[in-house]
Amino acid sequence: MTCLYASRTIVGFSVFTLGQSRAKIDIFEIRPGYRGRGFGRYLAAHILRMLLSHGAARIEVECAPRSSEPFWRKLGFVDHEERPSGWGNPKLVLASQAA
Ligand SMILES: CC(C)(COP(=O)(O)OP(=O)(O)OC[C@H]1O[C@@H](n2cnc3c(N)ncnc32)[C@H](O)[C@@H]1OP(=O)(O)O)[C@@H](O)C(=O)NCCC(=O)NCCS
Repeated sequence: MTCLYASRTIVGFSVFTLGQSRAKIDIFEIRPGYRGRGFGRYLAAHILRMLLSHGAARIEVECAPRSSEPFWRKLGFVDHEERPSGWGNPKLVLASQAA
């Protein structure tokens, strides 16, 4: 889990899983009132760099809520082969350029 602090406030957090070659973002949230100001992009970029540098060849995310899909696509995520999830949410994946 990683938290993002700004001005002594937790403005966002993420829970993620790192397996042997693939990783998954389980929860990702920016605090209401702090959205739309670049915090999500900043936190996601930090986590993605960390997961890739620890050997993840693929990083998966289930877009829940579905309204988050454009956010992930802006970060380079593309359609997952297994989409959608059992809940009907879009599943996306980011592949390491080394993979
Ligand atoms: C989705 C979420 C994480 C985005 O965080 P944020 O801090 O508002 O995003 P940013 O301000 O860093 O935006 C980064 C880019 O994504 C775009 N973006 C963000 N949310 C978007 C949305 N819902 N629809 C379209 N574009 C969106 C922004 O316009 C921005 O684009 P730009 O860099 O070209 O200007 C945040 O809205 C949130 O916590 N939502 C509720 C929980 C959630 O959906 N979590 C995801 C679970 S998979």
